[in-house]
Amino acid sequence: MRKHIVAGNWKMHKNNQETIALLEEIIEKKEANTTEIVVAPTFVNLLTAVENTKGKGITVAAQNMHQAEGGAFTGEISASMLTSIDVKTVILGHSERRAYFHETDALLANKVDTALKHNMRVIFCFGEELKDRQIDNHFKVIEYQLRDALFHLEKSDWSNIVLAYEPVWAIGTGETASPAQAQEMHKFIRTLIDKVYGHEVADNVSILYGGSVKPDNAKEIFSNPDVDGGLIGGAALKAEDFLAIVNAF
Ligand code: 13P
Repeated sequence: MRKHIVAGNWKMHKNNQETIALLEEIIEKKEANTTEIVVAPTFVNLLTAVENTKGKGITVAAQNMHQAEGGAFTGEISASMLTSIDVKTVILGHSERRAYFHETDALLANKVDTALKHNMRVIFCFGEELKDRQIDNHFKVIEYQLRDALFHLEKSDWSNIVLAYEPVWAIGTGETASPAQAQEMHKFIRTLIDKVYGHEVADNVSILYGGSVKPDNAKEIFSNPDVDGGLIGGAALKAEDFLAIVNAF
């Protein structure tokens, strides 16, 4: 059975002290739940986050990673640096990385390979822009993003892949895909995975929705059969809002 996951992508927010405070509040207020809780603070605070969540049922993830094993790549972070501090989940392909740091599907295919080689789990983000949806090209865009970054993988690799559909027009805009739009796309994605990899992979892969998920719309979005959780930006920065979303399942 696939997992329910709610992941907070903290982006470039929260310094070290704020990271500790937010984690403390999440730990204090969280209820027993079968939904996996993931938090992704910035690189510099990952070790702090790992130390402060030990044994507390919270997974710490990185927001990005370099594809090379190591070398002269000033400012970059490798897979083994992450696993050496017990960070075994990484978000790859976020639309902000694609837009501002020119990450392409081909590059992301490399990053995914490196992460899997290190036994890491990948939360792979993808999504169409508004202009694609306006000309009814969104299904094609999603199909090509998945094909170019992930469809070279072996069937067995998929146990370490989580998909996160994040329509770019819904990120940080307050505009959410309607529950029907989310379900329509998630079903399309699962059907596509089924065609390429078969039922077992398609049934077991968790597909998260991201883009302006808030406490007041989470329940409706998560009630769709093909939505297995959320990747949360702004609302993940307040413990109460984040936990309300976690509890929305
Ligand atoms: P918002 O929830 O702020 O729209 O951000 C979504 C996101 O980009 C999560 O990765």
